[in-house]
Amino acid sequence: MVVSLEAVQSDESGVARRTSIFREGLLEDRIALITGGSSGIGLGIARVFAELGATLVIVGRREDKLAAAKQQLMREVPGAEPVTIAVDVRKHLAIRDSIHGIVERFGRLDVLINNAAGNFHCPTEDMSENAWRTVIDIDLHGTFNCCQAALAGLKASPGGGRIINITVPQALSGWPGSAHAASAKAGVLSLTRSLAVEWGGYGIRVNNVLPGPIAGTEGLKRLYQDRGVADREIERMALGSFGLVDDIANACAFLVSPGGDFVTGCDFMVDGGRWLKRGWA
Ligand code: NAP
Ligand code: COA
Repeated sequence: MVVSLEAVQSDESGVARRTSIFREGLLEDRIALITGGSSGIGLGIARVFAELGATLVIVGRREDKLAAAKQQLMREVPGAEPVTIAVDVRKHLAIRDSIHGIVERFGRLDVLINNAAGNFHCPTEDMSENAWRTVIDIDLHGTFNCCQAALAGLKASPGGGRIINITVPQALSGWPGSAHAASAKAGVLSLTRSLAVEWGGYGIRVNNVLPGPIAGTEGLKRLYQDRGVADREIERMALGSFGLVDDIANACAFLVSPGGDFVTGCDFMVDGGRWLKRGWA
């Protein structure tokens, strides 16, 4: 299967990259908070945002992962100095205090990316109540917690605040074996649409980005590779390959740039045509 590999390069940490189409300094003066910014897709978004000049705040639970991500970003992007916050998105009050602290420090928040999530393969008949609740709590309640805590800061953003919720195409199709994640992300899709209308009057744009399987991530590993079904999954991709973290990061960069000024409440599918081919295969 032929894909447009000429656009792919590899950076010093071995992560395959896309060539950037964005102008230098595009996100200068933007304060961007990324939950789950310490690995995978969230770290990829952080890298591209830093390259475009944004000031970063990255959130995760583990201090050691955050510290490693910070070091990596500082190595890879000259001038980057991300603020890190170790906090669990499920903790409503702790999230409120952390995000309010950021807004006090910078005077505003321009961008919130809700990317932190939990998922694992588990047929519903075997799923404990706590397993179900845990994923709903991280993905759906965590997204609500961050959106609500960020509102005052986003209202103060001169260009109009931006929220991007990272969901998943299976929120639309259902996901046998990951019903908890599909259900939580379906809730997030609906939260996005509700907030796009509720907060549109404040100039805040709220959108969903729906990634297909992304190479080199924990999600791909635990949901496909560890289960020995990665080859089958590639067959489901219209473009014949998994995506790169840059594919998701570039979609986010577009949405938070002036290019996204008139875009709110949308589902931005970045999945290599997987959802469509699944319907035909
Ligand atoms: P990942 O590498 O496992 O990253 C998850 C991030 O979220 C980590 O930074 C993690 O740090 C943080 N996190 C997890 N639980 C948290 C909590 N309760 N509070 C605060 N931070 C938390 O995941 P990924 O594969 O890149 O996936 C990222 C996002 O993309 C998710 O929303 C996922 O649903 C979505 N997605 C992924 C794929 C894919 O192929 N990977 C496809 C479609 C959609 P700590 O562990 O330190 O907390
Ligand atoms: N299969 C079945 N049940 C599982 C499971 C699995 N693979 N992994 C965890 N669970 C269950 C646990 O047994 C527990 O239920 P129980 O109390 O009835 O035994 C429940 O889920 C909570 O597990 P716990 O490990 O206490 O949760 P946590 O809050 O420490 O971690 C997770 C959250 C489980 C989602 C963990 O996988 C995680 O931190 N994920 C973040 C990274 C990630 O998922 N990346 C991929 C994104 S696509």
